[in-house]
Amino acid sequence: MSERVNSWYDMNGRVVVLTGGTGRLARHYAVVLSEVGANVVLVDLVQATCDAVAAELRQQFGTEAMGLQMDISNKDEVTAGFARIWDRYGRIDVLVNNAAANQLTVFDGKLVDFEDFPLEFWQDNLDVNLTGAFLCSQGAGKRMSEQGSGVILNIGSVYGVVACDQRIYGDTGINSSVAYATTKSGILNFTRYLASYWQGKNIRVNCLSPGGVFNNQGEPFLSNYTGKTMLKSMADPDDLASALLYLVSDASKWVTGANLMVDGGWTAW
Ligand SMILES: NC(=O)c1ccc[n+]([C@@H]2O[C@H](COP(=O)([O-])OP(=O)(O)OC[C@H]3O[C@@H](n4cnc5c(N)ncnc54)[C@H](O)[C@@H]3O)[C@@H](O)[C@H]2O)c1
Repeated sequence: MSERVNSWYDMNGRVVVLTGGTGRLARHYAVVLSEVGANVVLVDLVQATCDAVAAELRQQFGTEAMGLQMDISNKDEVTAGFARIWDRYGRIDVLVNNAAANQLTVFDGKLVDFEDFPLEFWQDNLDVNLTGAFLCSQGAGKRMSEQGSGVILNIGSVYGVVACDQRIYGDTGINSSVAYATTKSGILNFTRYLASYWQGKNIRVNCLSPGGVFNNQGEPFLSNYTGKTMLKSMADPDDLASALLYLVSDASKWVTGANLMVDGGWTAW
């Protein structure tokens, strides 16, 4: 690869705060970001798991990865957490608002009807998916303003852009909740608001909206799902990691306020 193209994706020494950092997709993102030299701060609920993933990254890539237990919906924990990151690195280059509340749609062994959707599930989704992104963006944005640069990437979903198609779930036991759809939609205009708020400050804010990732979902869900995509498949974690790398690196240095759909064409027809 040419030096020029390499330089677009080079994240050497950059500090990337990744919330929900020990989740399924984030672990994959953390590896890819480490491959291009980033120091990844893995933020999640259990310190021991954060530490274990950070230690693996340090050992495998020689970076300065860090594990940080922080409930992103708790203002005091977020304030203290970002102070620790700042103390340790003296900069925050990227924040990825990736954490999401458990998208619980099954309760007492039954799919939850909208009419009975428990208030606590609704509140939990709002607290993590929206308030968490809000608090972390305050924590990171303060430092980014100070240092005069930064990138915030919010993780949305196809279900933040179009309605969850109830027909593909049937009695598969899988579904997606009203709270998830509502918060993932909210994160889109949160993205545009912040991009506009920090205009002229060299802080870019974008959103990545993935479609469903293959995770050994059985039939008939798999056929129902893939039939709705133009590429006739579910996502591979690399399909999302490559888009994420584009949006957090200099490859996208003239992109802000945007929402990138990575959904196999799901929302294009
Ligand atoms: N997996 C998919 O098919 C898919 C599709 C579209 C969008 N997404 C989005 O991608 C992101 C990652 O998805 P995933 O499948 O890896 O999810 P995941 O459930 O594996 O990971 C989410 C992580 O967030 C953490 N978390 C939850 N509440 C938290 C809190 N209060 N503070 C800190 N951390 C908290 C969890 O502990 C978990 O590690 C989510 O935003 C999700 O909505 C996923």
